[in-house]
Amino acid sequence: MIEEAVKNEGVWFTSGPEALATIADEIRARIHERGTDNDDWTFVDLGCGKGSMVQLMAKSQMFQHIVGVELDQDACQEAQRMMEDTKTSDIVCSDLFEFVHNAYSLSESQKPSLDAIVNAIVNAHQGHDIPWNPNMPGELAGRKTVFYMYEPLWSTDFTPEELHQKYCGLLADMAANAQQEVFVVYAPFAKYFKPQQADPECFTDNRFVLRSEIFADVDGYFAAVPQNVKDLIPAEMRNGVQVWHLDPIG
Ligand SMILES: C[S@@+](CC[C@H](N)C(=O)[O-])C[C@H]1O[C@@H](n2cnc3c(N)ncnc32)[C@H](O)[C@@H]1O
Repeated sequence: MIEEAVKNEGVWFTSGPEALATIADEIRARIHERGTDNDDWTFVDLGCGKGSMVQLMAKSQMFQHIVGVELDQDACQEAQRMMEDTKTSDIVCSDLFEFVHNAYSLSESQKPSLDAIVNAIVNAHQGHDIPWNPNMPGELAGRKTVFYMYEPLWSTDFTPEELHQKYCGLLADMAANAQQEVFVVYAPFAKYFKPQQADPECFTDNRFVLRSEIFADVDGYFAAVPQNVKDLIPAEMRNGVQVWHLDPIG
């Protein structure tokens, strides 16, 4: 069902460049607020489309690794073509929910002892290279990660309960095994147009804290509107981009 909806409608709806720049600034501010090196972080666009956000993030040099995950084969291949010269990025043609589940799944034997966690942090600070493969089970559990999620399921016909289950399951996968900080930068559709899909309770029940909410015209609806008029647009008509944060050690 997802594949069909994505095929029919979902793919070519790309974040506007102005919004992407605003969101990139917000991500940079959040990372710097944590007082750590840019280099430690991984960026993952869940539903990357043709790769506009991953491309911008690669240019920003904010991240050690950049991953785009896209279910639609055509869009995914286009993103792969666009990013083929960028060494730090990987485009994975996969269902994003499966990708996250896999990236945070640790078998009992993989669950590290406290010593192993401390060693990993020390190694990372000393700049030792930890082997990287975005498809390896548990790959993101030990890495500081920023996820970008621009309403991937907007065109599907899941019921609100099904959407709730999917998004809560995704965040629960992260929260269950994250050993490092996680940010989820979530761009929901304006509420008047489509009900919110990843409910705030899914975040808060999984120990995420809302760090900021900014206006970024992700859909480009207000592209031609002057800033002083944009400022007057009521909250329910705006694209509020939410930045949620999980700090398992803080
Ligand atoms: C609104 S677009 C966002 C594109 C891109 N992130 C950007 O900002 O330009 C949402 C994307 O999510 C993809 N998508 C939908 N369901 C997905 C799933 N289950 N797994 C991976 N990608 C999915 C769609 O194919 C679409 O390309």
